[in-house]
Amino acid sequence: MTADVLLHMDDGVLVVTINRPAKKNALTAQIYTALADAIAEADRRDDVRAVLLQGEGGNFTSGNDISLFVNGQTSGPEESPAGRFLRAVIALHKPMVACVCGHAVGIGATILLHCDYVVASDDARIRFPFVDLGLCPEFASTLLLQQVVGRNKAAEWLLLGATIPAAEAHRAGLVNCVEPLETVAEAALSIAKCLAAKPRQALMATRGLMREATEALVKTSLQREMVVFDSLRQSPETQEILRRFLERAPVRAAART
Ligand code: COA
Repeated sequence: MTADVLLHMDDGVLVVTINRPAKKNALTAQIYTALADAIAEADRRDDVRAVLLQGEGGNFTSGNDISLFVNGQTSGPEESPAGRFLRAVIALHKPMVACVCGHAVGIGATILLHCDYVVASDDARIRFPFVDLGLCPEFASTLLLQQVVGRNKAAEWLLLGATIPAAEAHRAGLVNCVEPLETVAEAALSIAKCLAAKPRQALMATRGLMREATEALVKTSLQREMVVFDSLRQSPETQEILRRFLERAPVRAAART
């Protein structure tokens, strides 16, 4: 069986590939755990100077596997594998680059706010679908998205939940550059290698100073969102919305054949 998360080193860059293409790289508890472990290891290892996050099969990630949201979750939101992953990303001291192709939905969109550089393919489609799913945004995105793209654009994207094409995400500042699909992986790797080759102490100090200013706010926002998210998730209204998504899966599959 192929691993759902693939790791390899390339010139000081830990390349982390989400590998569940049949489900558009939807994130399971197992994937969150593997990602959290990989990020924590990247932070510890001296030979890792930068992290590159990407998805296999033409999509970045369709976000949380919806089945995880339905019914019981035995641990509290902070102890969940997703919670561990969020905290590992926030605690990372090294630069992280995202290579975004195809769909980047939910946490696939909010994680971009924690990256130091985002390269998107011209076919990338980014979406914050939380309200339509009966949920609220996570990963401190209610705070960070406003900082990155401004309050009105953040409200438009978070409340209306429309799909954002790569060009619009670039114009608004969520994405650093847009590349043709054929060359996007190469471009993202080249940026990550460039960061990996910089003077280590100065790079990490600069990055740390940039993050220090909002660190406490990010943690507060993350925790508050987790509480509200979990309360909404358990509500009958939201459970009904999520069940409908899962029930439609066989219909969607039949339509494709
Ligand atoms: N959770 C669980 N399964 C998912 C998933 C997710 N987040 N995203 C995709 N899948 C599954 C689909 O159910 C489908 O499974 P099937 O082959 O067994 O029917 C398979 O992945 C392919 O997805 P499909 O919807 O057919 O692909 P598409 O190209 O038409 O659409 C998306 C892609 C990403 C737009 C669509 O799958 C989608 O909206 N997914 C949900 C995104 C979401 O709301 N995530 C939660 C964030 S909080």
